[in-house]
Amino acid sequence: MSHAKTFELTIHPGLLRNELISFLHAFGIEDFVEAASDTIDADDVDWEEVLAHWTEKDDSPLLIYRPEASDLETLIVALKEHFGEGMTISGKWIADSLWQEAWEPDFCSLETQKFFIGPEGVAPNPSRIHIALVEAAVFGSGQHATTQALIRLMESQAPLTEQESFLDVGTGTGVLAFAAHHLGYAPIVGTDIEDHAIEIARTNALRNNLPLTLHLGSLPPAGKVWDTIACNILPPTLTHLLEALAGLLTRDGKLYLAGFHEANCEGIEAELRRIGFEVVAARKERGWIAWLAQRPSS
Ligand SMILES: C[S@@+](CC[C@H](N)C(=O)[O-])C[C@H]1O[C@@H](n2cnc3c(N)ncnc32)[C@H](O)[C@@H]1O
Repeated sequence: MSHAKTFELTIHPGLLRNELISFLHAFGIEDFVEAASDTIDADDVDWEEVLAHWTEKDDSPLLIYRPEASDLETLIVALKEHFGEGMTISGKWIADSLWQEAWEPDFCSLETQKFFIGPEGVAPNPSRIHIALVEAAVFGSGQHATTQALIRLMESQAPLTEQESFLDVGTGTGVLAFAAHHLGYAPIVGTDIEDHAIEIARTNALRNNLPLTLHLGSLPPAGKVWDTIACNILPPTLTHLLEALAGLLTRDGKLYLAGFHEANCEGIEAELRRIGFEVVAARKERGWIAWLAQRPSS
């Protein structure tokens, strides 16, 4: 068993987010991970509301990953000199296996109770519903622990008694949306901030002859509420998006979440509680968690 580790530096910039990003660029650091912001492209946006929300949310952290903590020593000193107490910096070691698993999945097939999900050309198991995915450098090929956990959680719930709409935020290859179609959801919309992901999801939908409306951007245009939303995105983006997702759900709507490791559960559960949701079902695959969350019934 490998004990290799990666050092994770977390910087909370407070209101100095833009200054921090410019500082990192000037320092030659381009590979930081930041919580993505929602792309707003609806015509009828209430900008005052959006900007108020934006400022509140501006404190999402930036993360930098390095094989050695010492690789970041000079940066930490420079940050402290430049920003003083203006931002909080913390570091921790994370197991390499987790990091690799999240970002560099090998493409292979996934078999669950209901589905066989695999690359085109691989012979499926005829007793499962087949979802064939084109091989592409887009996350969501079905074999990743977060995707597996979420699909297994979705298929283990009681069958739908009536049709429910489904929004897949961060659709990647579209894999969750395709599983949702076979579980009876309709209509289904997938969003992604990467245009390459949207292209791949579109190709996969065509090849599998499955209905999927796609939207480039974080959230779909305003004006519709959803019965179910799925979101498999690594924290801190997931945490950052939760309140907006809650606002897009019906009162009894279901929120399927994944993308976080058991080490992240506490923070995500706290945010869920803050916005009035509770975890009602869970699934774990190799330490990665999937949750079904809902508002308590009144
Ligand atoms: C971990 S992958 C999940 C893919 C697929 N849904 C699955 O479950 O296998 C996360 C996807 O979310 C997209 N993404 C990242 N931040 C996002 C955001 N703020 N809004 C929408 N999509 C985002 C990424 O481009 C990527 O395709």
